[in-house]
Amino acid sequence: MLNHAPSCTKADIKIITKRLSKIIKFGDCVLLEGSLGVGKTEFAKGLMSAFGVRRFACGSPTFPIINEYNYLNKKIAHIDFYRLKNYDEIEDIGIPSYFWDENVIVISEWLNLFPKFERQVMKKANSSIWKVKLEFDKTSPATKRKVSIFTGYH
Ligand SMILES: Nc1ncnc2c1ncn2[C@@H]1O[C@H](COP(=O)(O)OP(=O)(O)O)[C@@H](O)[C@H]1O
Ligand SMILES: [Mg+2]
Repeated sequence: MLNHAPSCTKADIKIITKRLSKIIKFGDCVLLEGSLGVGKTEFAKGLMSAFGVRRFACGSPTFPIINEYNYLNKKIAHIDFYRLKNYDEIEDIGIPSYFWDENVIVISEWLNLFPKFERQVMKKANSSIWKVKLEFDKTSPATKRKVSIFTGYH
């Protein structure tokens, strides 16, 4: 485990994402885990703003599954697996290729809903996985989160 912070406010999340953005490389994947409303998208947005990226493409305007961003002439892909039904659908919309592309940083939410695909992703060589587990802090669930970051899966 890289970091375990028991009581993070939104401001702390900003600090963590800023630090993480400095060590993430192209080909890396950030896998965000935790229940609905815990702050996965908030964490992803923190990373995006630390990278200073702007959006250049997206799918459905209301609930896009994949959002792509320009970063240093390469790509950041923010992928939300929540509304995907099965692995066929994942393949049909071309998601696996993002994870095997060394010119892309992938930031995912809910990949853990597809454990078999997640295992494949975690085994991939030549790149790093950053698993970020977010939990509500029971003492102040409205404003604070527990953040655990794991890396070195390969
Ligand atoms: N310490 C915190 N860290 C992250 N989000 C927080 C925190 N405190 C409050 N929030 C709020 O919790 C909500 C998290 O929503 P979101 O990021 O969309 O969750 P998820 O993507 O996990 O479903 C946001 O409205 C955010 O403002
Ligand atoms: Mg979300």
